[in-house]
Amino acid sequence: MSQAPISRGNSKDLKPIDLKVGNCSGAKFYIKETPSGPILRKEFIGNTKKLKDQFNWLKNHSEFTFIPKVSNPIESVDSFSYEMTYYENAKNAHEGLGEIDENLFLEILSSIEQLKREKEVVSQEQIDFYLKHKLDKKLLQCFQNHKARDFAGTNLIQGQEYPSVAQLIQDLNSYSYILKEGKNSEIHGDLTLENILIDSKKPLFIDPNGENAVSTIEVELAKLFQSLNSSYEDLSLDKLKVSDIMALKDHELFIILKNYILKNYGDGGLLRTYFHELIHLARLLPYKQINLGHQYDDFLDLFIIRSHQFLTMVKEK
Ligand SMILES: Nc1ncnc2c1ncn2[C@@H]1O[C@H](COP(=O)(O)OP(=O)(O)O)[C@@H](O)[C@H]1O
Ligand SMILES: [Mg+2]
Repeated sequence: MSQAPISRGNSKDLKPIDLKVGNCSGAKFYIKETPSGPILRKEFIGNTKKLKDQFNWLKNHSEFTFIPKVSNPIESVDSFSYEMTYYENAKNAHEGLGEIDENLFLEILSSIEQLKREKEVVSQEQIDFYLKHKLDKKLLQCFQNHKARDFAGTNLIQGQEYPSVAQLIQDLNSYSYILKEGKNSEIHGDLTLENILIDSKKPLFIDPNGENAVSTIEVELAKLFQSLNSSYEDLSLDKLKVSDIMALKDHELFIILKNYILKNYGDGGLLRTYFHELIHLARLLPYKQINLGHQYDDFLDLFIIRSHQFLTMVKEK
């Protein structure tokens, strides 16, 4: 029997709250004051599968101190919602980046390691499927929607010529075997800085995404690359342009992360992480095109520059 849908903000104990930073999935949030502190309800109206999977993932990993406890799921035909503690004083790691020191960052990395339960080695079929759906198709979709740029033409970005997107995709596919060295594993799946809360100097992982056809540790770490190598959140928030990002020197946490990967996963691990960062950039492009149309060119330029840099690095090896 399906349960009644939750009241959407008009009940006297559920107040809608605008979390602004980092909320891009279209989920709605409500606060409920309780004697033991405020509770946050996250609700998604529409396709309920994603949020339901998220709830189950969080529940299944509740033994870890860095996973917030979730409760009281409510499901109806067109909505799903669940509750968790509202960490009033927490900042997400993007807002609080300046306050993350090396120890705290290493604690985040060690939490990722604790989650990890390695499974089988990634197969060529999985990689082909992943590249086709998350790289090739996503870019084709963008170019079909936005005819102003030429899929097969070279790109001029800040006075430098880059290969066409068609060429980049072809070259990236020709190196797909690089990704085969990875092992599938238990991962959070969307560990951007916005999905890490810092509460009393302790990390909490929220908003997991189990929908990864390939789920290696490098897929996980590549989300941090997106933030720390490519300032992805600042680009989304219009705080930086691609030209600013290219002029930045490496963030100190990015240097720590690269050294950590080299030490634990070797040269191959680092290369795979760079590769997965490109796939993450590509798979988000259609969302950026729809939601942040004016920035689409910047996101596409970022993908082109990073892809070209990666391919140059691979060819030099
Ligand atoms: N339990 C919580 N306590 C405090 N802030 C939260 C909590 N859950 C989410 N947030 C804030 O809201 C933002 C969006 O939440 P999230 O679950 O990641 O939604 P979305 O699926 O839209 O990305 C987070 O980046 C974080 O800043
Ligand atoms: Mg999020």
